[in-house]
Amino acid sequence: MQIVSTVAEVRTQVKAWKREGLTIGFVPTMGYLHEGHASLMKCARERCDKVVASIFVNPMQFGENEDLDSYPRDLDADAKLCEEIGVDLIFHPEPGEMYEDGFCSFVDMNGLTKELCGKSRPVHFRGVCTVVCKLFHIVTPDCAFFGQKDAQQLAVIRRMTKDLNMDIEIVGCPIVREADGLAKSSRNTYLNEEERRAALVLSRAVFLGQRLVGEGATSAEALITAMKAEIEKEPLARIDYVEAVSMETVEKVETIEKNVLVAMAVFIGTTRLIDNFIV
Ligand code: PAF
Repeated sequence: MQIVSTVAEVRTQVKAWKREGLTIGFVPTMGYLHEGHASLMKCARERCDKVVASIFVNPMQFGENEDLDSYPRDLDADAKLCEEIGVDLIFHPEPGEMYEDGFCSFVDMNGLTKELCGKSRPVHFRGVCTVVCKLFHIVTPDCAFFGQKDAQQLAVIRRMTKDLNMDIEIVGCPIVREADGLAKSSRNTYLNEEERRAALVLSRAVFLGQRLVGEGATSAEALITAMKAEIEKEPLARIDYVEAVSMETVEKVETIEKNVLVAMAVFIGTTRLIDNFIV
């Protein structure tokens, strides 16, 4: 497995693979990899001849008072996991390699980013779209793999790829959970013991929502009220949002039907966690 830090090195290797007629699977990450990322890489490994992963904590997708500086980083552990899974190349650039002096071009999206995380993190998706677009141009993959835990991000990337005629298949992979239900996230590492226990309220609310939908619930309002009531039982939890939206447009819906995304963001102490299910 190679670990490279420049755009030129990635391009040279990918071009060589393409000359041999090999397909490229790409997993963009911000590192501090866990089993959720591993599942994306394994999926890429099964689907494509070569697997490229990027590890880059993208400053552009963090707001002013967010956790850019404290975001966890561990390149050695990440490289070990990638090697075990059979990743062929890690792209680990410095911020200056991605955003040279004078950088002033952005990918912005008008729709899909007004609700959910887009509402509470106004600059987030501009940063995500810009960096993913750049990474797609650098790696030129056939397929790219994203987790359903960031369901709005998955919808946004699908839309961007379609709107900008990028010839890349976007593959969404299911949420990976801890044995007790908590969705895997690099940010779980911020939780102390008490908060870790309290964080289970997110998956409890997801499982409750899934059960109610399974029993025939169709009113989004009633479903959200029930899920919020479950979360509010936990004193350490503060709801940012619980919403039901269309998975395609990320606009609010009144009726729960196929392809509706029921998503939440909840602060546990100062840590903001997300979880969801798709009907
Ligand atoms: O999901 C993430 O880790 C990031 O948003 C991504 C897609 C790697 C872009 O920085």
